[in-house]
Amino acid sequence: MNFFTLQWQDSSVVMIDQRKLPREEIYLSFRTPEEVGQAIKDMVVRGAPAIGVAAAFGMALAAQNSEAPNHEVFFKEMDEAAKMLISQRPTAVNLSWAVQRIQNFYRSKQDLPLLTLQNMILEEALAIFEEDCNMCIDMGVHGSELIKLGNSYLTHCNAGALATAGRGTALSVFYEAKDQHKKFKVYSCETRPFLQGARLTCWELMKNNVDVTLITDNMAAHMMQKGKIHGVVVGSDRIVANGDVANKIGTYGLAVLAKAHQIPFYVVAPTSTIDLETQEGSQVEIEERPIEEVTHFFGTASAPENVKVFNPAFDITPHDLVTAIVTEKGILYPPFKESLKKIK
Ligand code: MRU
Repeated sequence: MNFFTLQWQDSSVVMIDQRKLPREEIYLSFRTPEEVGQAIKDMVVRGAPAIGVAAAFGMALAAQNSEAPNHEVFFKEMDEAAKMLISQRPTAVNLSWAVQRIQNFYRSKQDLPLLTLQNMILEEALAIFEEDCNMCIDMGVHGSELIKLGNSYLTHCNAGALATAGRGTALSVFYEAKDQHKKFKVYSCETRPFLQGARLTCWELMKNNVDVTLITDNMAAHMMQKGKIHGVVVGSDRIVANGDVANKIGTYGLAVLAKAHQIPFYVVAPTSTIDLETQEGSQVEIEERPIEEVTHFFGTASAPENVKVFNPAFDITPHDLVTAIVTEKGILYPPFKESLKKIK
């Protein structure tokens, strides 16, 4: 990759500003957990694994900046930072997963001197970063088995390097297939309203010389009917116990279309995205985003003033529309209730 999504540098978190891509490649530096929380909310950083890693770094900043005189005050400050970070976006489970992992870490080390603990929290956050990079590579290796010579694959939103600390989930599959010199094509849905497909997926695939063609969201059915799509490959924000998949709004529609055209529908996600405590997709909180994302196009109004707007950021794809789930530990097939439990 000739860019990075987020990194820990000199006591701060540096992130590429994804709101500005593809027109400007700017890196911003964040020095407090509150700044990191705001960056997650404002989508400077987005994508389930990436916001998890960002939040882990936010917790490391909280630890680093703390002047707490004793453990009790320190834990209180840390728990407050955790609550604030988790509350920024509700759907992707990786966010709470990463924050809770840091919480479990410091709760299990109460006997250590405060200074040692503060430093160890950074090490734990860096371990989460490192593990995410490795999981991306492994998902790519497993998923590349599904990519067949000469075929074309549709993807939605951005499940690439920009959505993780490493080389992505769904897009890692394409990067690995390319490294194996397989010839294939990618079609990227534009992904209204935030345009992650157009702005981010096309940008990073082109930067890495993967053959990508941009289509608008409403062209997917036509492309499938014409036989131009041989598989759908997407990421996920949360996979629940029965295999239902929360992902970017529009994913469910693509899954229904794929079924109607007998096209395989693959979900690629690390085990940190699997939430076995939630039984079915209907129990997942779907984030609603500001209406301006729908009524404005790069700051210019594209709808009448005061129009009523509904802007859910995610939807649920029922498990029976999913052909396979690719994780860093291997490929899972139905019945997902069993295969997910086994792998987690
Ligand atoms: O709103 P976003 O851009 O954070 O949504 C991201 C997605 O829906 C991705 O598909 C998902 O997080 C998987 S990323 C590896």
